[in-house]
Amino acid sequence: MEDLREKVAVVTGGASGIGLGMCERFAAEGMKLVLADVEAARLEAEVKRLSSEGADAIGVRCDVRDPDDVRALAERTLSRFGAVHVICNNAGVAPAGPMLETTPADWRWIVDVNVMGVAYGVTTFGPILVEAGEGHIVNTASEAGLVSSAMLGMYTATKHAVVGMTESLRRELEGSGVGVSCLCPNLVSTKIFQSERNRDDGAGMTGRQTATLASLREVISSTGISPAQVADDVVDAIRRDRFWIFTHDVTAPAAGVRFADIEAGRNPSDPYAGAALEGLEGLRGGGDER
Ligand SMILES: NC(=O)c1ccc[n+]([C@@H]2O[C@H](COP(=O)([O-])OP(=O)(O)OC[C@H]3O[C@@H](n4cnc5c(N)ncnc54)[C@H](O)[C@@H]3O)[C@@H](O)[C@H]2O)c1
Repeated sequence: MEDLREKVAVVTGGASGIGLGMCERFAAEGMKLVLADVEAARLEAEVKRLSSEGADAIGVRCDVRDPDDVRALAERTLSRFGAVHVICNNAGVAPAGPMLETTPADWRWIVDVNVMGVAYGVTTFGPILVEAGEGHIVNTASEAGLVSSAMLGMYTATKHAVVGMTESLRRELEGSGVGVSCLCPNLVSTKIFQSERNRDDGAGMTGRQTATLASLREVISSTGISPAQVADDVVDAIRRDRFWIFTHDVTAPAAGVRFADIEAGRNPSDPYAGAALEGLEGLRGGGDER
């Protein structure tokens, strides 16, 4: 989709981080915006700010775990703007820690948000775009959807699921006029490792889960790139109908390490060790946390 001016974009997880970065960039392109998020106060504040800066934006409180909420999001978008052109299924959470300390409640939460939330976005908005014969679907996965990391087992599982469903979707929508992209960021300076703030089942964390998140927060704040940089990549991918959106040079080589292991029948190695490390400068950035 070359011309973005006056087009309507819906972004889940739009009140923070990468989603908010996309909204800011879409506004700069002259798009109309629907920010959807579970965090109502922040959503209201960001919509107010964007509107005061001249954006035509609304906020819809939406929990992507609930298919009725996602349907209501589509209805609200159509009633306000009469169309939808870009849907970014971006809301996500990232509990971390040892696999053997994960609980059924942990799994339900992360699968409901990261996998089902994306699936509901696709199945709700996809038919509207296909019917119109134009548009673009951006699903936020992660580099964790292409490789695996210790202490992020649940997150890795959900992001592999997003990559898989997004590849299938791309094949199915070939020729429909609707583009599909899979966003696979590496470290971006956001609140992703504070996602327990949105957890509503009262579950606590073990000491090692808490400690893992603390060290991940440190890494992300020292090496993460800014959400604005990711948003640039997203807009370019929509314009050029590119499927893969990698934010760091190291991502594809790291995936290559995994596939070389698979091809050689080797046990899984650290994708960021050895040869792939040469691309590590791509991990560095130092963006502002949003
Ligand atoms: N930050 C990174 O380094 C990184 C890397 C790879 C992928 N990602 C992915 O990017 C996406 C955006 O995350 P971020 O880094 O901007 O983190 P963030 O925490 O700053 O933003 C995530 C947003 O999702 C919202 N959200 C959480 N649960 C929700 C729900 N049930 N319904 C609706 N909204 C909900 C949060 O309120 C928040 O506004 C996520 O899918 C994340 O997994 C992030």
